Amino acid sequence: MSGGNSGVKVPVLPGFFWRPLELSDAPALHTLQKECASFAYSPPPKPFEKLYAEMENAARTLPGDSLCAADADGRLAAAAWITLDDGFRHELRAYLADCVHPSWGQEVNVYLIKWMEARARVRFAGWEDTRPRILRLDVEHQDRKVFRLYESLGYHFTLAEETMRRPLDGTIPEYALPAEMGVVPWSAERAELFHKTYLAAFRDRPGFPAWGLETWRKAFTESEGFRQDLSLLVLDGTVGAAYAVCMVEDNTGWVLQFGVNTDYRRRGLGAGLLAELLRRFRKAGLAEAALEVNVNNETARRLYIRMGFAVTSVYSSFRKTMPI
Ligand SMILES: CC(C)(COP(=O)(O)OP(=O)(O)OC[C@H]1O[C@@H](n2cnc3c(N)ncnc32)[C@H](O)[C@@H]1OP(=O)(O)O)[C@@H](O)C(=O)NCCC(=O)NCCS
Repeated sequence: MSGGNSGVKVPVLPGFFWRPLELSDAPALHTLQKECASFAYSPPPKPFEKLYAEMENAARTLPGDSLCAADADGRLAAAAWITLDDGFRHELRAYLADCVHPSWGQEVNVYLIKWMEARARVRFAGWEDTRPRILRLDVEHQDRKVFRLYESLGYHFTLAEETMRRPLDGTIPEYALPAEMGVVPWSAERAELFHKTYLAAFRDRPGFPAWGLETWRKAFTESEGFRQDLSLLVLDGTVGAAYAVCMVEDNTGWVLQFGVNTDYRRRGLGAGLLAELLRRFRKAGLAEAALEVNVNNETARRLYIRMGFAVTSVYSSFRKTMPI
């Protein structure tokens, strides 16, 4: 039986047996995700096509990095899947995702988290560098009992972020940037100036990690869907006053990072730049704008609500450092 590598007793679910996920499980996994979401009052899962594409892309790692409890008809009672992210210079991440049908108890969840940890340990061992090994649980439910469970397993709550969205049909507020300032799109030559503006904009945020140029650049400008033409820098002469890094996914323009230099706040630059982005998104044929904002960031939330954004979901992130 797979799933025995965590050193934890394998739970017995009558009628179900443990095995890795397969691509053909995609419909059953999607059904399970929908059932879990409706029970936890969290938003519905990603569309089926997205899940299928993710599983297809992970075809090579899925046999080792996933586990599910399936019955003879292919129904799933529980599933878990880890995804490694080697894209950060400062840490190596494993995202842990699991889903347990509400009719099964908490011990199945505990078992799956421990199984994923054990699997992450095996996968991390393949890297020879000394970056900290981080386990991440990013969840969209708001179940306090499960949050306490994560904490009892050594995970620390790190942040909660809301996803906010706004359709692009209808009126876009007429805020404008000051006429004396210039707006330029992303280019490799401007990377340092964008990065400098990021530091100047986020320096007053609690827990600001002040990422170096290369870490920041890799995380934000090298992600899939990054749009050079929709990532903008507002210049006051040669000083970066505000900036935004954006990507496109399907029909949605995502504002990945957005900030105004602390020396230029409360002059309407935030509203002006956001309105400019919405106009450019619409011109690019997009249907919707979206962004994520920390629930403790009241200033930014007020701005987004003023610009017509509404909260569609909230996710919480828990992390644990694994000894090397
Ligand atoms: C959130 C943020 C982008 C807002 O930028 P900003 O340029 O100050 O935004 P605006 O000037 O358009 O609006 C901010 C406030 O100034 C007020 N304001 C705008 N022009 C003004 C003026 N001429 N005189 C006085 N007040 C003014 C607005 O009414 C708004 O007030 P409120 O906060 O009470 O609602 C900025 O605070 C920031 O970069 N924060 C750190 C990074 C960050 O959190 N980014 C978002 C991550 S999701």
